Amino acid sequence: MRLLLVHSLIFSFTLARAAVTAYGPHVQSPLGTTTAASASYTGAASYDTTILTAPAPPNPAPPTQFNVELQTGGVSGLSIQQEGSFFGFSIEFSVTTQVLGLNSSFLQVPFLNLMANLRQRGGSVKVRVGGNTQETATLVASTPDGAALEKDYGKVSNPTATPPLVFTSEIIKMMAEISALTDVYWYMGVPFNDTQNWRLQIAEVGEAMLGKYLIGLQAGNEPDLYSRHGHRPDTYSPQDYKNEFGLLIDAMNADSNIPNKNLLIGPNLAGVWSLPDIWQTGFATDFSQNLAALGVERYPTDNCYALFGIGTPRYGQEMFPFFLSHQSGKNIVNEFPGAADYAQSVGKPFIMSETNTASCGGFPGLSDSFGAALWGIDYALQLAYSNFSTVLFHVGGQSVYYNPFTPPVTNQSTFHQWTIGPIYYSALAVAEALGSSNTAQVLDLQANGGSDYTPGYAIYENGQPVRIALTNFISDPSGNSDYTASISIGGTVPPSVKVKYLLADSVSQIYNFTWAGQTFGGPFSSDGRLVGALDIQTIPCDQTNNVCQVKVPAPGFALVFLTDNALFESDQSPTMTFSTTAYTDIHGPTVTIDPSVLATSNGEKGLADALAGTSKGRQMSSALGFAQALPSLFAVMAGALVIGRLAFMR
Ligand SMILES: *[C@@H]1O[C@H](CO)[C@@H](O)[C@H](O)[C@H]1NC(C)=O
Ligand SMILES: *[C@@H]1O[C@H](CO)[C@@H](O)[C@H](O)[C@H]1NC(C)=O
Ligand SMILES: *[C@@H]1O[C@H](CO)[C@@H](O)[C@H](O)[C@H]1NC(C)=O
Ligand SMILES: *[C@@H]1O[C@H](CO)[C@@H](O)[C@H](O)[C@H]1NC(C)=O
Ligand SMILES: *[C@@H]1O[C@H](CO)[C@@H](O)[C@H](O)[C@H]1NC(C)=O
Repeated sequence: MRLLLVHSLIFSFTLARAAVTAYGPHVQSPLGTTTAASASYTGAASYDTTILTAPAPPNPAPPTQFNVELQTGGVSGLSIQQEGSFFGFSIEFSVTTQVLGLNSSFLQVPFLNLMANLRQRGGSVKVRVGGNTQETATLVASTPDGAALEKDYGKVSNPTATPPLVFTSEIIKMMAEISALTDVYWYMGVPFNDTQNWRLQIAEVGEAMLGKYLIGLQAGNEPDLYSRHGHRPDTYSPQDYKNEFGLLIDAMNADSNIPNKNLLIGPNLAGVWSLPDIWQTGFATDFSQNLAALGVERYPTDNCYALFGIGTPRYGQEMFPFFLSHQSGKNIVNEFPGAADYAQSVGKPFIMSETNTASCGGFPGLSDSFGAALWGIDYALQLAYSNFSTVLFHVGGQSVYYNPFTPPVTNQSTFHQWTIGPIYYSALAVAEALGSSNTAQVLDLQANGGSDYTPGYAIYENGQPVRIALTNFISDPSGNSDYTASISIGGTVPPSVKVKYLLADSVSQIYNFTWAGQTFGGPFSSDGRLVGALDIQTIPCDQTNNVCQVKVPAPGFALVFLTDNALFESDQSPTMTFSTTAYTDIHGPTVTIDPSVLATSNGEKGLADALAGTSKGRQMSSALGFAQALPSLFAVMAGALVIGRLAFMR
């Protein structure tokens, strides 16, 4: 393993806003209790066993009973219509071969399952492949080692030690295979380091191979940090960025291999420039024809001091209460005053294309805690309510604490499985809260007198409330801080409602959270499928008094389904899942999957049901046109995968 490369220029970062990228392993010194190292602890951040102390219940405590009175029809303050894929992921380009698969023939089965879980709930999934490493990425015909992606460490030249990447079209073909199996829609990035000699191959090959599954091409990743990182002169301004964006559009217009010219996303700011600085250049209006969306990137804070010894020292234990609050998500929204309205006025979606608990890897014990799962839900729903159109939570490598999911390191991949983090549980809950209708409109209920500890949202479809999302950020084993929401609906409540809970004993718990009774377990234990019996509670309502009493434990999250259809829309069955012990064989252009090796997920739901009655496996036709076809999937065994040696760090 190599040592961390940190150039002194990095000291000039605006740390709270900068997403710092570095490569190599690191171990942070947490403030908090480190439990006795478990047998499975490898020393990498993703498996850190730090457990923080849960904040004490607030004093004075918020009321433990409050009313939620929902109007039907003509409700004001609803968000724009949101898609079930609202909550997606951002994966640094350089770690795609760890997370997605090695190439189009070797896909990571746990990743497929994780995406299939979300497709089942929200209808589809959005994933960004990009980040700092997109800027110098170059598509090549082949690499020296024959791998689909390689990093050229000999050419590491910038402050964040980002190595140039070379990759082959296998990477994009692999993405197409994943889309065909699990309906993942992709954002990619056009290299922006060289505005004289544009490298547009990623757009050419991306459009050809991904078709409708390519939904955006970021142009410029955090351009407001370019000059600080030495990628542009000190004078580099919003107008300069706009001009370069214009040059890119000219180059794309001149390229007949790029049929779709309207996929660009900008300005992707880190927060040094403000959005109005960009808007006043005419960026969003002059380039309207070419823009698919307007985007920003933002972390609420950073832990760069622990990593680089620079900036403000911050400790997970001290930061914890900040995340266990409704205000946390609102603070991030408040950094973009008027931006979502502006985006609507120019007819563009407004996306948060990279975020997580804290840049520079997050905090041990916090970013991997149950508290982070509750934070992720409230933050994402706050963005949805505030008319953002998408939020993408970042996935780093072994050296970060905030991963939604982490593959095992190379030499452990034969005996270890994946580690699922709290943010993935948030993704499941939000996908179900929004459902698959793509008409969900979110309302912040200002629940319980606007208490920061007990936020609630109602989700409407076609003017009717369909689901209610209720969080309790307090940890209190005595039960005294559990609350009861008394829900009433204009007209009358149904005879009963269904409730799914996201639960753990404390906000400080790491691993083994349950969503409707099911879990991904502890470290190294998941193939991406929920295990355990599905537990959906039925709560009878009092129709005479028009009230449903829903209890929310401290801590916990409850998703209340007001109708059977609201539940159905959020959990379509059966879903296709993939067993890591499955061996799938290929016969010419036909993929054969033996149902006996495909386990079920989510109780009875799994591909095995869909395949029941076939004894030798169902033949799936695969016409292998790129985007629509079923892939030539075979030998998809996570255990067979070689995971890149070098950890990635954001
Ligand atoms: C994919 O990777 C595997 C393992 O390295 C290799 O055996 C196979 O040839 C590769 N396939 C392609 C199409 O590159
Ligand atoms: C941009 O990156 C490519 C690939 O690393 C490199 O070959 C090229 O020289 C870079 N251009 C500039 C202007 O830095
Ligand atoms: C979101 O957009 C809708 C539709 O334009 C608007 O009515 C609503 O007030 C906006 N919400 C917020 C929080 O700005
Ligand atoms: C895996 O590799 C790392 C780094 O080379 C080493 O420290 C560790 O002991 C290895 N683990 C196993 C189980 O081989
Ligand atoms: C998770 O739960 C399982 C089953 O109860 C238990 O064996 C395991 O030790 C737990 N893991 C952690 C990290 O708490």
